[in-house]
Amino acid sequence: MSAIRIAPSLLSADFARLGDEVTSVIAACADLIHFDVMDNHYVPNLPIDVHLMVKPVDALIPLFAQAGAAIISFHPEASEHVDRTLQLIRSLGVKAGLVLNPATPLHWLDHTLEQLDLVLLMSVNPGFGGQAFIDHVLPKIEAVRRRIDASGRDIWLEVDGGVNAGNVRRVAAAGADTLVAGSAVFSGGDYRRSIAALRDGAEVARR
Ligand code: DX5
Ligand code: ZN
Repeated sequence: MSAIRIAPSLLSADFARLGDEVTSVIAACADLIHFDVMDNHYVPNLPIDVHLMVKPVDALIPLFAQAGAAIISFHPEASEHVDRTLQLIRSLGVKAGLVLNPATPLHWLDHTLEQLDLVLLMSVNPGFGGQAFIDHVLPKIEAVRRRIDASGRDIWLEVDGGVNAGNVRRVAAAGADTLVAGSAVFSGGDYRRSIAALRDGAEVARR
């Protein structure tokens, strides 16, 4: 089983001190920087996990690839041709992810899974940080975990929205391996402690 990855979401960081905030979460043992794009960038020294919440997406993808994104994820509803967008991301040497909102059905994975490096399940409706985790996403995480395992491919299963120390065990037990955390990291004072609490909870749940 692969390791748990913690991805602090910059949406919850102090934008006036973004450079310091990124440096602090790197020092606090983050694994990725989750970069929520609602409308634009800063390039830290950690894999940047770009979550595009814009429509259309194709024109922006080369710009984020050039800016240093390691992973680019998009919502299928935001692309005219999902397969073409996946091909575009991969052609730029970047890992590709598909993002499914709480009410977006899993059939989007039917003809895309072979091209995905990451499935990102939203556990809130996208738009802003600090929302409550939607519990009915848990069985959806389990279903995606089964599909990924059946594929035999190394596809990360990331969960985004309302993840905190109180629910991280259930999220990891359902099968998530990559956890986005905005307010759970940035609203506590001690980033190292917050990240460690998430990682420890997730690792315990997977045993
Ligand atoms: C929501 C964003 C999330 C958000 C998560 O639209 O995609 O990445 O920043 O924040 P929390 O962890 O506070 O729900
Ligand atoms: Zn996000």
